[in-house]
Amino acid sequence: MEKTNLHPDISEILLSQEQLEQRVAQLGAEITRDFAGRAPLFVGVLKGCFVFMADLMRHVDLPCSIDFMAVSSYGSGTKTTGAVKIIKDLNQDIEGKDIILVEDILDSGVTLHYLTEYLSVRKPATITIATLMDKPARRKAPVFARYAGFEIPDAFVVGYGLDYDERYRNLPYIGVLKESVYS
Ligand code: IMP
Ligand code: MG
Repeated sequence: MEKTNLHPDISEILLSQEQLEQRVAQLGAEITRDFAGRAPLFVGVLKGCFVFMADLMRHVDLPCSIDFMAVSSYGSGTKTTGAVKIIKDLNQDIEGKDIILVEDILDSGVTLHYLTEYLSVRKPATITIATLMDKPARRKAPVFARYAGFEIPDAFVVGYGLDYDERYRNLPYIGVLKESVYS
């Protein structure tokens, strides 16, 4: 087995490539089973979702389609400020569709709570949340993720699509960012 080199800004690997692969495959299988006979539209929340969504899709055996939205939670750094702004909206009608919102991480819940409300006005049949990670300790807004890959502690993590200041998205694992990098 090939050894993953630890990036110098990472204090520990929280989720290894193997753990990610296994769990994402399970989530894909669950979605395939739960949505049998339906054709869900996966809506990825850019940018953090892109690696997870790409892997998840390949474990979904359904006539599904994909689209993306981009949001910004005002301000950079490691904490969300609470306000959400839509940077890129969907360019298709979602009325009557089964929407699966795909997120990298559910933290305060502000983003997904806002997006769920925002999209429900367009009368989709259902909106279901699939998140790779969940930090339940930090929840401020009421959000239920039917598919949640991993519950993680309150640490700032990067890799597998997730960034700090646009960096580290290319790391193949989920790692805890050293506090010295952002403090
Ligand atoms: P929420 O609105 O607080 O749930 O924020 C969710 C968004 O904050 C995620 O989609 C990420 O973009 C970002 N985020 C929250 N925690 C982390 C983290 O530990 N690492 C990287 N991004 C994070
Ligand atoms: Mg995000």
